[in-house]
Amino acid sequence: MKSVTRKQSTSQQSGAAVSFTLNGRPASVKIPPGRSLLSLLREQCGIISPKNGCEPQGACGCCTVLIDEKPRLACTLRAEKAEGRRIVTAEGLPPNVRDQAADCFVRAGAVQCGFCIPGIAMRAVALLERNASPSRAEIAHELRGNLCRCTGYTKIVDAIELMARVRRGEPLPPADERNGVGASLGRYRGGEFVLGDFRYIDDIRIEGSLFAAMRFSDHPRALIRSIDAAEALSMCGVHRVMTADDVPGDRYVGLIIPDWPILVAIGEETRCVGDILAIVVADDQHLAREAAAKVKIDYEVREPITDPRAALEPGAAKIHPAGNLLSRSAFARGDVNAAFERAAHVVEETYRTQPIEHMFLEPESCIAIPQDGSPSLRVLTQGQGVFDDRRQIASVLGWDQSRVKVELVSNGGAFGGKEDMSIQAQTALSAVLCQRPVKCTLTRDESIRLHPKRHAVTINIKVASDSKGCITAVKARMIGDKGAYASVGAKVLERAAGHAIGPYRCENVDIESLAVYTNNPPCGAMRGFGANQAAFAIERSLDRLAKKVGIDGWEIRWRNVLDVGDRFCTGQVLDKPFGLKQTLLAVKDAFRNAKWAGIACGIKNVGIGNGLSDEGKAILQVVATDRIIIRTGFTEMGQGYFTICIQTACEETGLPPRIFVP
Ligand code: FES
Ligand code: FES
Repeated sequence: MKSVTRKQSTSQQSGAAVSFTLNGRPASVKIPPGRSLLSLLREQCGIISPKNGCEPQGACGCCTVLIDEKPRLACTLRAEKAEGRRIVTAEGLPPNVRDQAADCFVRAGAVQCGFCIPGIAMRAVALLERNASPSRAEIAHELRGNLCRCTGYTKIVDAIELMARVRRGEPLPPADERNGVGASLGRYRGGEFVLGDFRYIDDIRIEGSLFAAMRFSDHPRALIRSIDAAEALSMCGVHRVMTADDVPGDRYVGLIIPDWPILVAIGEETRCVGDILAIVVADDQHLAREAAAKVKIDYEVREPITDPRAALEPGAAKIHPAGNLLSRSAFARGDVNAAFERAAHVVEETYRTQPIEHMFLEPESCIAIPQDGSPSLRVLTQGQGVFDDRRQIASVLGWDQSRVKVELVSNGGAFGGKEDMSIQAQTALSAVLCQRPVKCTLTRDESIRLHPKRHAVTINIKVASDSKGCITAVKARMIGDKGAYASVGAKVLERAAGHAIGPYRCENVDIESLAVYTNNPPCGAMRGFGANQAAFAIERSLDRLAKKVGIDGWEIRWRNVLDVGDRFCTGQVLDKPFGLKQTLLAVKDAFRNAKWAGIACGIKNVGIGNGLSDEGKAILQVVATDRIIIRTGFTEMGQGYFTICIQTACEETGLPPRIFVP
């Protein structure tokens, strides 16, 4: 299908006016039918503190506002229902309440990526209005509708308890006066995150912006016979529909292997339901999504390959031209067969882990802005690697990288799921072809459909020990379901192999790990990066081995845990104590005295690993007598990277934190 363009037409802005009180002031806003209160607040009223994590699902709580003093989810309420109501968002809280919330959450360390916190803070304010001294259980109960993917909730409950104390007249505990590494410095710009004042990409408004939406494949595996955009283009306010033919440069992207098309072309086969077939650009995000749904696709539907073992069968359809095996990682030490023959005990089992969604609370969003001059493009991304994004966007456009400037906007959680590009290239292409700024924000459903997951891995593992339970041999065969695209899967499965026997010593090992393409959603990086799946198998094996030996789970781990000078699974020598023995000693009594308790250890490489040296660099730029900019290329995604940068700069220079700006 050829690129099709319509002349700009007017946006569909119609509907009845809704009158209400917003943050103490009367408001009357016209809103198109069917929109939510969240849309009304964010798109018509310039309010940004209620965040959109899942509209219209009502599942995350990020959009919590006060309606007639009660906390409510703005995404589940139709805009018309606001008629005559008193609505308060974090922007409209009294200044002293705003300060209390900001100070208490930051002081308690209860704000990481921050995307969930404004909704939680609003709920806390409502709770403390009706109960000045809630118990921890009451606070937890109040938060049952609010998800936080970063903090684990303990610190959030701490923060709300602290807020209650401050509201009762107690002073804030004194701040840590130290500055350097190891001190408790408040999260950089923490107050802005707590109050929802921080602008994530979807909160940023660019004058004259258009909006893009993606037409995803309806089938994981289907031949695309034709794409018909006529109906979408006939809609008032739709500017352009783009397909694979519109890509001027390389259509394939990828962090390691460029095997992922940003648009699947007519005559090609889809590989998963996250494949994008067309991009629709329109006057607003809702209209773009509506129009994308009207792009008609003629498919020849084919049976998807959903099991990696089936994908490896001779004669299996090839998902990629080179076949379905992406990578094989294997190594062996010692004499495994002899060790199994001599063993006092052997356990063998097959373990299966499932794919896991990252569930970062901020769905993907991107803005691309054509720049005058060269010509060039400015892209606002929340991806985990601005340099990878720049390289891939430039390649899609067929441009030199110097013409693409990619800026990181700290994101609302990532956990590995934003390492691959999501909609950055499509948004960039839209902006270049329309010569207008373009924003694209995914819905929660689209986000889950598109971005890579944690790999499901099937692990057959055989572990032998002597009569005392000391491990003498391990043989493991792992098959990772890579899903449709390579992402960083070869490296994840390599890590799974390297962590196959966890933090335990064994001199006879035989390990193999395969990454295999299927038509399932792609899998990539996620916290642990393959180590988690391997830990599940070895830890369960140790429990079973312990039973055979007649010792408990603590004892078998104690007898096998690495000491300095021992070798890891891969043969790497442990050169420093790593605290695991002390940890085991610390939990020994609790484990043994508990009626029901499990025990497991975990290990994870840090940095790149595999013998490569890690290094990081930053530039400190003095711009004024009281201002030093820290220039760094890494990503703030809620882990507190900018705060650590400041602490490191304080440590190195002896200067106070307030003068540093990351
Ligand atoms: Fe409203 Fe998630 S609950 S955006
Ligand atoms: Fe709660 Fe990130 S701080 S989701």
